[in-house]
Amino acid sequence: MDYAATGQAAQARIAAAQDLESVERLRIELLGKQGSISALLKTLGAMSPDQRQAQGPQIQALREGVTAALADRKAALEGAALEARLAAEQLDLTLPAPDLPKGSVHPVSQVMDELAEIFADMGFAVASGPEIEDDWHNFTALNMPESHPARAMHDTFYFPDAAPNGGRMVLRTHTSPVQIRTMLAEGAPLRIIAPGRVYRSDSDATHTPMFHQVEGLVIDKGIHLGHLKWTLETFLKAFFEREDIVLRLRPSYFPFTEPSVEVDVGFALVKGKRVLGGSGDAPDHGWMELLGSGMVNRTVIEFGGLDPDEWQGFAFGIGVDRLAMLKYGMDDLRAFFDGDQRWLAHYGFSALDVPTLSAGVGTPA
Ligand code: DAH
Repeated sequence: MDYAATGQAAQARIAAAQDLESVERLRIELLGKQGSISALLKTLGAMSPDQRQAQGPQIQALREGVTAALADRKAALEGAALEARLAAEQLDLTLPAPDLPKGSVHPVSQVMDELAEIFADMGFAVASGPEIEDDWHNFTALNMPESHPARAMHDTFYFPDAAPNGGRMVLRTHTSPVQIRTMLAEGAPLRIIAPGRVYRSDSDATHTPMFHQVEGLVIDKGIHLGHLKWTLETFLKAFFEREDIVLRLRPSYFPFTEPSVEVDVGFALVKGKRVLGGSGDAPDHGWMELLGSGMVNRTVIEFGGLDPDEWQGFAFGIGVDRLAMLKYGMDDLRAFFDGDQRWLAHYGFSALDVPTLSAGVGTPA
């Protein structure tokens, strides 16, 4: 057999390979396990010593030559590919910069991030629940049985579908059902906030059919109203970034808390505008209702699968849109959901403006 000729033929084919896959196919065909040159090497075993001495070096030379040719061709093709890419990827630094991205973070999203940041610092996790809720979680387990008059105050959107656990499916009217879901899923102790969308069939300058709430829930042993007041005060001072926030707790009624308190915050009238801070009883000051809260009703703790003799807690619910309006000075709630580019550009936040306690939770750079 003319090994030199075999070698030349192989080298010619390698030199003609136009891409890396062809080179690889040739490598397998020639040097692979079933390759033709590998087969030649196997013939050495059956040869006489003389034959082997004469042909062995020739076959080895053939194999080495082909191996080197494959490596060279591969390197050449790779080099050419790199050259082509470098040529195509030219960057002209003298061109004008591209337009800045137009998107912005909606104030509601920003405020929710601020809430999560402030409450995380107090050991609260963020919990969530479905916006399409069943009657039981939205009402019954929150101590509002079927005939309860408080149900009527919620202007509920009902689905035609029956809920698996009785009643009908609803668009949740508040974030409070997340209290029940979290107690059932995680037991006690608990410290959570649950921000999210809620829905009520109501629409005017201060009400939209969809709005946002944040629910708070603490379940532990020996929890009392003092914990609630401290938590709300600490949160509101951090959120509004002022130390002179003064709260007034007023007795109230919610089915899911007992006792229930409504929390007012003191404001000052400065040139006719309400500025939060100071006691509402001072001259030129007033009180503004901010949120509902209270000690979690024993019945609700039971519906959450816990023993109310062992576990107590407090809960609160705040309108997130309202918080955003108070902090960032918008006066029409409906504009929040119009999707007007000018409003969004004005009141929106940069995606890089991530609220942190160290850098400030709300003063845009
Ligand atoms: N769920 C109430 C509402 O939507 C707000 C609320 C009041 C939540 C008192 C609470 C609470 O957790 O304790 O009007």
